[in-house]
Amino acid sequence: MARDTRIGVVGGTGAVGTVTLGLLREHGFENVRVFASARSAGKNVAGHTVEEATPEALSRGDVDVFLFSVGTGASRELVPHAVRGGATCVDKSSAYRLEPGIPLVVPEVNGGRALQNDGIIANPNCCTIPLTCVLKPLHEAAGLTRVRVATYQSVSGAGAQAMERLRGEHPDDHDLRMDWDFDGEEFDEESKLRAETRKIMELPELPIQATCVRVPVMVGHAEAVWIETDQPLSAEGARALLEAAPSVRVDDFPSPGRAAGIDEVLVGRIRRDSTIENGLALFLASDNLRKGAALNAIQIAELVLAETRAAA
Ligand SMILES: NC(=O)c1ccc[n+]([C@@H]2O[C@H](COP(=O)([O-])OP(=O)(O)OC[C@H]3O[C@@H](n4cnc5c(N)ncnc54)[C@H](OP(=O)(O)O)[C@@H]3O)[C@@H](O)[C@H]2O)c1
Repeated sequence: MARDTRIGVVGGTGAVGTVTLGLLREHGFENVRVFASARSAGKNVAGHTVEEATPEALSRGDVDVFLFSVGTGASRELVPHAVRGGATCVDKSSAYRLEPGIPLVVPEVNGGRALQNDGIIANPNCCTIPLTCVLKPLHEAAGLTRVRVATYQSVSGAGAQAMERLRGEHPDDHDLRMDWDFDGEEFDEESKLRAETRKIMELPELPIQATCVRVPVMVGHAEAVWIETDQPLSAEGARALLEAAPSVRVDDFPSPGRAAGIDEVLVGRIRRDSTIENGLALFLASDNLRKGAALNAIQIAELVLAETRAAA
C-alpha cells in the first residue's frame, strides 16, 4: 500500500518537513515528492528535487495525499487547491484545527474521526498531541474534571530558523522565551492547547489552564501536568493504565533528551497531588517533530489509506 501511494510533502525543507521525509522512508512510502516556496525550488532535499508549491502544481490531481507543514497563512492559501485536485490533505498548521466539521486527530485518541473528512484533516499542536495521548486512558478510567499544565517547549517547535539561532547563541545568553502571540492575558499557544484538547477529547467544557514557555533545548517538548478526576485514581492505577496505553511509554524521569528521536510519549513522575482530593501530578516528554508533528500526520494518512483500501 505505502509503496504505491503518491505523497506530496509541502514544506519539505522545514524542521517538520525534513523529519517527515525520513519517517515516510521508514514507513515504506517510496513515491514521494517535495514542495516548498519559490525560495527553495530546485534545491535537493534528501534526494528529492524541491518543486514550488503553486496552486497549479497542487491541484493537478497527481498526488493522493499531501502532508502540509507550512505556516498558517500558506496553508490557508494552498490547502484548498490540493483538495480541489482530489487529494486528501493532512495539515499541521493551526489554520483548520478548530474549524467545525474538520477533524482534528490524534489516532490513538480519536482516530475514527479521521475518516469523517471532506479532504482536510488537521494535525494538532505539538503539545496537545502528547497531552491527549496521556489524558485519554485516565479520562476513560476516572473522568477528568480539571487539567493544569506547564510546558517546557524546545526551540525546534518554532522552526528551522529558530534552531539555527539557538546553535549560534552563546550559552550565557540562553533564556526562557515566550515567543507566541499575546492577547493581553494568554499566549495563543495556551489557548490552542485548551481548545484543541477539548475538541479532540470531545469534552467541550473541560476546565484546562496552561502556561507555555520555550526553553533553550533543541528537540523535545516536556509538560508538567496536574489532573483532577471525578472518581478516585491512585498513582499506581494511573501508572498501570499508562503502561497499557498505545504510543505511551512509562519512564521514571522523562526529559526532552530521552524523548528526542523516539516515537512514544514518555510519561513518569506519576504521583498523588496532595493539594486536592482526586488529584494526580505527572510529567511527560515527547519529540515535537515526530509524534508532535510528522509522525502523527503520517499515522493519520495511514488510517485514511487503510480505510480507502478496505472500501475499494
Ligand atoms: N516544529 C514543530 O515542532 C511543529 C509541530 C507541530 C506543528 N508545526 C507546524 O508545522 C508548520 C511548519 O513548521 P516548521 O517548524 O517545519 O517550520 P519551518 O522549519 O520554518 O519550515 C517551514 C516550511 O514551510 C515552507 N513554506 C513557507 N512558506 C511557504 C509558501 N508560501 N509556500 C510553500 N512553502 C512554504 C518553507 O519552505 P522554504 O524552505 O521554501 O522557505 C519550509 O519548508 C507550521 O505551521 C507549524 O506551526 C510545527
